[in-house]
Amino acid sequence: MTPTAHEAPSATYEAPPNIALIKYWGVRDEELHLPYNSSLSVTLERLRTRTTVRFDPLLPADRLVLNGRVADGAPREAVARFLDLVRERSGSKLYAEVRSRNNFPTASGMASSASGFAALAGAASRAAGLDLTQAELSALARFGSGSAARSIFGGFVEWDAGRRSDGRDCRARALLPPRHWPELLDLVAVVADAPAKEVRSAVAMQASVRTSPAFSDRQAAVGPRLSRMRSAIRRRDSDAFFRLLIEECDEFRGVCERTVPTLDYLTDTSREVLAAVKGLNAAAGEAVVGYTHDAGAHVHLFTLRSELPRLRRALRPIRGVARYWSLRPGPGGRYLRTSVR
Ligand code: PMV
Repeated sequence: MTPTAHEAPSATYEAPPNIALIKYWGVRDEELHLPYNSSLSVTLERLRTRTTVRFDPLLPADRLVLNGRVADGAPREAVARFLDLVRERSGSKLYAEVRSRNNFPTASGMASSASGFAALAGAASRAAGLDLTQAELSALARFGSGSAARSIFGGFVEWDAGRRSDGRDCRARALLPPRHWPELLDLVAVVADAPAKEVRSAVAMQASVRTSPAFSDRQAAVGPRLSRMRSAIRRRDSDAFFRLLIEECDEFRGVCERTVPTLDYLTDTSREVLAAVKGLNAAAGEAVVGYTHDAGAHVHLFTLRSELPRLRRALRPIRGVARYWSLRPGPGGRYLRTSVR
């Protein structure tokens, strides 16, 4: 039965961003969205994207309202493409209104695509009548943005690249719960002069696959590094974890920098933050802080709560950081009551 306008089916899902500890960078099958390598992330508390999707027989096209404003152009098109996938799977022919709100600055490089597409996958699939498991939701979300596959889950999350060409063994899962390492926190240095992203990550990473001479070396190193990091996290071995985090981030940056044309995501301020961490660790004689960044200028500084005062002192001379967010590992995505705001 076709629903009338007032009973247009809707659903609301709320999803967090995540920060990759071992990066996903490169897709081996663009149609199925299968990554070259497995990745590992931590889901972040407090930051959230909340999305309501309402399929409506009266709508002549999909409509996106982002943070209270009607959005056109590329963001609306990306949402419409994702909704096409949901329509294809559910058999629905209806267009949808998507209302999405971030409780953190959009396009600030804070991985709003991960939380955004995870939230869209949750809300759109349920509103379309699909009742998906978390694993199925994650597999759907990755078609919007690869990193979104991890934001469905909380705590420490592994996205296994799999080996099969049909992608059936490519799946994300929760590895360890948010409370696994209560001492660990992520101090995010939100840099003031972060430039807007010029090239979408999905496009930039394929340029790295094609042109970066460092890409194949990375493929050989990243699997063993992920195993070592998984084990360091399990053992709560901070020295090993922070070292591996820095090694991974530096390698990821190297792949980007050697891409043609080069991909340079950092600003002078970001580089100052990285240098401060290296100085602090050298002075401490062990790794007391680890850093990482995505395809953006903000830097995530992982440390133990007891080391926070020392880290803050080391960062004090750096002028270009707009603010710091202290975040812990948090829960994954969840459904909220069905509502239309
Ligand atoms: O999910 P995408 O397509 O926005 O790409 C994410 C790429 C990185 O953030 C750099 C790495 C990752 O694993 O999240």
